[in-house]
Amino acid sequence: MRLLHIVATFSLAGSALSQSNTVDAYISSESPIAKAGLLANIGPNGAKCSGAKSGVVIASPSTNPNYIYTWTRDSSLVFKAIIDQFTLGQDPSLRSQIDNFIKAETFLQQVSNPSGTVSSGGLAEPKFNVDETAFTGAWGRPQRDGPGLRSTALITYANWLVENNNATFVSSTLWPIIQLDLDYVAGNWNKTGFDLWEEVQGSSFFTTAVQHRSLREGAALATRIGQTSLVSNYNTQADNILCFLQSYWNPNAGYITANTNSGRSGKDANGALASIHTWDIAAGCDAATFQPCSDKALSNLKVYVDAFRTIYTINNGIPTGSAVATGRYPEDGYYGGNPWYLTTLAVAEQLYDALTTWNSLGELNVTTVSLAFFKQFDSDVVVGTYPSTTANYAALTGAVKNFADGFVEIVAKYTPANGGLSEQYNRGTGVQLSAADLTWSYASALTAFGARAGTITASWGASGLVVPSRCSTAPTSTSSSSTSTPTPSPSPGSVSVTFNVHAITVYGENIYLTGSVGQLQNWSPDNALLLSAANYPTWSITVTLPANTAIQYKYIRKYNGKITWESDPNMQITTPSSGSIVENDTWR
Ligand SMILES: *[C@@H]1O[C@H](CO)[C@@H](O)[C@H](O)[C@H]1NC(C)=O
Ligand SMILES: *[C@@H]1O[C@H](CO)[C@@H](O)[C@H](O)[C@H]1NC(C)=O
Ligand SMILES: *[C@@H]1O[C@H](CO)[C@@H](O)[C@H](O)[C@H]1NC(C)=O
Ligand SMILES: *[C@@H]1O[C@H](CO)[C@@H](O)[C@H](O)[C@H]1NC(C)=O
Repeated sequence: MRLLHIVATFSLAGSALSQSNTVDAYISSESPIAKAGLLANIGPNGAKCSGAKSGVVIASPSTNPNYIYTWTRDSSLVFKAIIDQFTLGQDPSLRSQIDNFIKAETFLQQVSNPSGTVSSGGLAEPKFNVDETAFTGAWGRPQRDGPGLRSTALITYANWLVENNNATFVSSTLWPIIQLDLDYVAGNWNKTGFDLWEEVQGSSFFTTAVQHRSLREGAALATRIGQTSLVSNYNTQADNILCFLQSYWNPNAGYITANTNSGRSGKDANGALASIHTWDIAAGCDAATFQPCSDKALSNLKVYVDAFRTIYTINNGIPTGSAVATGRYPEDGYYGGNPWYLTTLAVAEQLYDALTTWNSLGELNVTTVSLAFFKQFDSDVVVGTYPSTTANYAALTGAVKNFADGFVEIVAKYTPANGGLSEQYNRGTGVQLSAADLTWSYASALTAFGARAGTITASWGASGLVVPSRCSTAPTSTSSSSTSTPTPSPSPGSVSVTFNVHAITVYGENIYLTGSVGQLQNWSPDNALLLSAANYPTWSITVTLPANTAIQYKYIRKYNGKITWESDPNMQITTPSSGSIVENDTWR
């Protein structure tokens, strides 16, 4: 019992009930305000939505700075919070909002914009006007986290629908838009872009982490709904991304370098945000995916938090091991460089997620990597495993809980009387500033409060992953679009065939392919292969087929559960002996 004496230390800290009461009181008053504030910013009926179209999330109703735009990142994070509440049974009334969001994003995906069209890079456009037209001004583009975050939100809803006997809607309406985003991620993750703060052009840890998650859970959903031809490429690219993800870790200084090419320290809220948005309790404290309780994520959190101790006047006099106000990154100069509500709350949320995970595993490890994190609570903590039945576990988790509550208490202290949360609060006075009623601030309050209450969000497949020993890059796409499914390398005796068909469809209607061989599902309309509308009105799919074979096929339409076959006769191709071919058809 080498740690026996810290029990006394931490039972003292744990008895600071006034702090916990402050947090409890803040959460009960702020929760309804945050929920209402979030919904107020969503069209068409939100009280402050500034004329946004149905399902469109405005970043903030502020006109100075002007935030009346819809960002794919912010909207997807906001709707992930909404979808989690709905799918966990916490608020059934949110379903119509989710359905509106799906329609809005389906439309926005197709809006040509300065990043490109749906098939040539437009999915990574950071923001749109709230009337769903393209924003054509200068901006830091592309931003490649949007497709990953959007597909993650929609996959969470899709999994719930499948579990609730509505796989039809998933296959007909949700999957086609999810697939566009996943194909984009699979084809473009190995390119630089702007980070989540829209400033650094390079590779960004947050972007890489959310891209990895989306492909992993996308592969699982594809398997679940019979889109099996896509699974192996998504998993291959997910492995490649997981490998690349490790490269951001700085082992000497014990933190995640947020971006390449930033010219900064790399200490950034990016790491904590990635950790909370890729939490999967089934993965335990695995450091490969930087889970909230992993030693790397905890070490990173300490380095990040400490970077703000001396630079903000409002943190003066707060001792090490106690919570402080934190911002995006210490070098930040936007509005003078201030703490943000959503970054301070992200620290609390990571710690609450960690506590929930330790409690479910029944133990906590202190490793050489996380030792400094734990030592900030007591300098005598040593490396080891602490089972939940021990006093040391109670002391350590009690200290972490207090630390976490401290960040919520700081946010509470600098929340004005009406409960409104803007983007930032002043580094010298704590008075809030920049965009008022930031939707993401409200979402971050709701998810942090949920995490404190022990909410467990759905797993996404982070458990048991093995980091490849050698990192590979993504295959180079041959088309300028980079969004098509990369061509699988044919095994001997097989060839790669791309089927393109020109077909006009209505919203919710999709084109499928089936035919005379197993690879084309043996004429099964139920298992027919869904084509991508990335180049609408051309629908396409690339499949591996036996070489030197005469194959018959037909396209079919599915709409609202109704199946329509192409008119007779069957189409026919004879595959070549090797290589790949492109077949161009028009719907009959
Ligand atoms: C399936 O889900 C969609 C989207 O929420 C909904 O519009 C539709 O009514 C549902 N269908 C069934 C059979 O529940
Ligand atoms: C592409 O992937 C390789 C292998 O992981 C990595 O070394 C490189 O930095 C990546 N580049 C970008 C821009 O993602
Ligand atoms: C603690 O470490 C052991 C040994 O590495 C591992 O098997 C266990 O899963 C870890 N537990 C937690 C909670 O991280
Ligand atoms: C189909 O169109 C592509 C380009 O649009 C062309 O390269 C290809 O040769 C065409 N295939 C056939 C069989 O004509």
